[in-house]
Amino acid sequence: MELGIIGGSGLFEKRLLKSAKKKKVKTPYGTVAVFVKDDVCFIQRHGDRKDIPPHKINHHANINAFMRLGVEDIIGISSVGSLKKAIKPGSIVVIHDYMSFHSIPTFFNDSIIHTTPGLSAELRKKLIDTARKAKVKTVNKGVYLQTHGPRLETKAEIRMFKNYADVVGMTIANEATLAKELELNYAAICSVDNYANGIVPQQLDFEEVKGEQKKNFRKIKSIIEHIIK
Ligand code: HPA
Repeated sequence: MELGIIGGSGLFEKRLLKSAKKKKVKTPYGTVAVFVKDDVCFIQRHGDRKDIPPHKINHHANINAFMRLGVEDIIGISSVGSLKKAIKPGSIVVIHDYMSFHSIPTFFNDSIIHTTPGLSAELRKKLIDTARKAKVKTVNKGVYLQTHGPRLETKAEIRMFKNYADVVGMTIANEATLAKELELNYAAICSVDNYANGIVPQQLDFEEVKGEQKKNFRKIKSIIEHIIK
């Protein structure tokens, strides 16, 4: 398997990988539904039924399932809030680094192994180049800050975070860390679906975020279609 894609609640395997076949992959962490088509496979990170909230996602099982399928490159697709006025909702950010204070998952609970975290430079370049070919504008750098969820952030939290990061979300750092532990390449496409709480005067409401996710889906689909072509 060449490529693994893991997507959030706004993404549907049927729309992204037409005629993909569902396969159950057993891992030591649980069974994962994977949608396979040719050399590409897709995991819905919120579970097959899209009902697992962000703080309960089984990241260990998802990333381990990719490894079992022989995937070497993983693209994470995720919804984020913008911490910067200049990064408007509707933007697509190919992040270059991340921070996560609430959660540092590991596969190594019984051995002393200290992985150096980081996103794959080669895979990031591939995403950026492919987006250009697909005529989708991207912001080609950005720091992702992961919060625990499920609640959104307070205005005070965002006032602090905006000094250190560009976008905020609830999942990518965990996946990137676990992928690195298994020596898999990981990079992410972040769909900016709202301004984080307090960045603009308008009240933040997650229903609006969902609307923006739908609008941004077209751009993400176009990038992915060009990658798997
Ligand atoms: N905060 C955290 N996660 C998110 C947001 C946000 O504002 N928007 C989409 N995912």
